[in-house]
Amino acid sequence: MENIFGIRHMTGGSRYIRPSNPGLLLFVLWLAAGLSGYAGAAEPQTTMPGKPMYTGATLCGGRCHDPWYQAWKDTPHARTYELLKPGVRAEAKRRGGLNPNADYTADVRCLRCHTTGYGQKGGFIPLKTSVNVREPDLEQVGCEMCHTARGGNQARVIMKKTEGKFKRSQIEAWGERYDYENVCRRCHGHKKSPHPQRRINFKAERKNIHDYAKYYNDFNKTQESKIDHGKGVTEDHPLAIEDWDVVDGAIRFKKLPLWEGWLIFNR
Ligand code: HEC
Ligand code: HEC
Ligand code: HEC
Repeated sequence: MENIFGIRHMTGGSRYIRPSNPGLLLFVLWLAAGLSGYAGAAEPQTTMPGKPMYTGATLCGGRCHDPWYQAWKDTPHARTYELLKPGVRAEAKRRGGLNPNADYTADVRCLRCHTTGYGQKGGFIPLKTSVNVREPDLEQVGCEMCHTARGGNQARVIMKKTEGKFKRSQIEAWGERYDYENVCRRCHGHKKSPHPQRRINFKAERKNIHDYAKYYNDFNKTQESKIDHGKGVTEDHPLAIEDWDVVDGAIRFKKLPLWEGWLIFNR
């Protein structure tokens, strides 16, 4: 139980275990019980290394997951910020009821789904975060939008300490989740989309997100790929899809995930 309640303690909040949702509470208890079984395996630290924050995709690449980074870089998710510029996809914008000539690159209504960590610690800040199409980082739909915030994160400590041989449930306690379809639905089909969206076949598209096997080269050839991480708890128990609103020109998160206190927090 320590992991889960440790997180709660540090964020000072029991507010996200809602008494009105006994199912969720039971799930938390069950998850915590399951996780404690792994506690000895990796000897994870009991305190967080720092405040979790977004750091961008380039740091996930580099020495650890470079083939994934290189593969992702060649996909539309690595160019989502470009779509907000005037004139880009003009026809689609017109069809979707948006102004094709408008500059949406600092528009609070767009950035949650077209950049990384907008409105959260370390996340994208319009006009401040640098934008580099050749080496995309925070300014696109990066790793952290689907996996979890990297900076100050216990999940990363566990990955490093175990040299990649962790169990999925170990890092789930720190924000990673494997209910990938709900992860996609943070943006795809989310009700806050100001434009209509194409339908996505989540199962079929999963392997195209970063088809990393083709991206091994001399620099990254030693990076691990085929490690069995076991089955994650969230695979069978999908978590909530985050909801948010724009209030007085700023993004506010509403329906928060289990790990609210540290994964979703305001700057
Ligand atoms: C749009 C969402 C999305 C983005 C962005 C994304 N991933 Fe993934 N990632 C996934 C999905 C979905 C899977 C599972 C793929 C499968 O089942 O074939 C996955 C799997 C992985 C795995 C294997 C995990 C395991 O437990 O087996 C690694 C490592 C990984 N991603 C790293 C990255 C890195 C590094 C980046 C950024 C450069 C990144 N991902 C960006 C969705 C994403
Ligand atoms: C943070 C928001 C976000 C998340 C999370 C996300 N996507 Fe996307 N996705 C986008 C945006 C924005 C585009 C538009 C890119 C474009 O049209 O160039 C897109 C485009 C796509 C496309 C279309 C690419 C094409 O060929 O036009 C597919 C397929 C896709 N996403 C699958 C997924 C899957 C599967 C997941 C979950 C594992 C996922 N996405 C998670 C924002 C997101
Ligand atoms: C709730 C998440 C969400 C928000 C908010 C959002 N988008 Fe998107 N956007 C997506 C997704 C997902 C896609 C990819 C699926 C698709 O193209 O239908 C996309 C695709 C696009 C495309 C490409 C469409 C095409 O058919 O080529 C454009 C252009 C775009 N968005 C612009 C914007 C602008 C401008 C805003 C703000 C006014 C915005 N988006 C806000 C999720 C979002």
